Amino acid sequence: MIPFNKPYLTGKELEYIGDAVSRGKISGNGHYTKKCHEFFQERYGFKKCLLTTSCTDALEMAAILCDIQQGDEVIVPSYTFVSSANAFVLRGAKIVFADSRNDTPGIDESKIEALITPRTKVIVPVHYAGFACDMDIIMDIANRYSLLVVEDAAHGIDSFYKGRPLGSIGHLGCFSFHETKNIQCGEGGMLIINDEKFVKRAEIIWEKGTNRSAFWRGEIDKYGWVDIGSSFLPSEICAAFLFAQLENMDDIQLKRKKSGKPISNF
Ligand SMILES: Cc1ncc(COP(=O)(O)O)c(C=O)c1O
Repeated sequence: MIPFNKPYLTGKELEYIGDAVSRGKISGNGHYTKKCHEFFQERYGFKKCLLTTSCTDALEMAAILCDIQQGDEVIVPSYTFVSSANAFVLRGAKIVFADSRNDTPGIDESKIEALITPRTKVIVPVHYAGFACDMDIIMDIANRYSLLVVEDAAHGIDSFYKGRPLGSIGHLGCFSFHETKNIQCGEGGMLIINDEKFVKRAEIIWEKGTNRSAFWRGEIDKYGWVDIGSSFLPSEICAAFLFAQLENMDDIQLKRKKSGKPISNF
């Protein structure tokens, strides 16, 4: 059987996993999680990153942060993976599908405005296969109608729109590190928080609805249940694996480009 993909290994994954284990703290938000966060903040200037167990989870966190209520409408491209829609459906949203452009699989930005109603809350541009959506037009529409933008950048790592990294343009951005992606850790993802107003709540949702992140930073003397949330953070074992990949990002990207067939239709 020909496999759909073969995940690339840098050779450092097991060494870093061994190191994570020997550090004695293998639950989430430890040494390697912080190293991954720092990597992204330094390389792309992301304001705040939170590793998640998948892009699906990052999208679910985004849907909570957008405060989706029953019947709110979310505009999603009709050509995407289920998670772009599912995350919002789980919060009670009605999905309004927008068509793709003729030249890329991405959302046709010229079709968005006609789909907006008083119930519309969020637009979800999906940078399918790393092809950037027209973010200038999408952000302009969102600003004019006071909508939120959640970039589904599951395929968009290390890809850019007019020099700006994908995932950094909307209010929130979501990446996937599933083994089919260029940079992977088996199952993994990341939420990028570009709008400062979401940072504090994002950390709480990430940590099962508790203010434990503030506790670890020494800002409070005990932590408790303060909001809804779930167990969205990955273990240090996944973060250690991911860090081995991140350190070799340029090499991995180059290898992908060399072995990939140019997609002439897009
Ligand atoms: C566009 C898109 N969004 C979200 C996801 C979900 O990613 P994950 O498998 O990390 O949950 C995928 C998965 O391939 C995807 O293609």
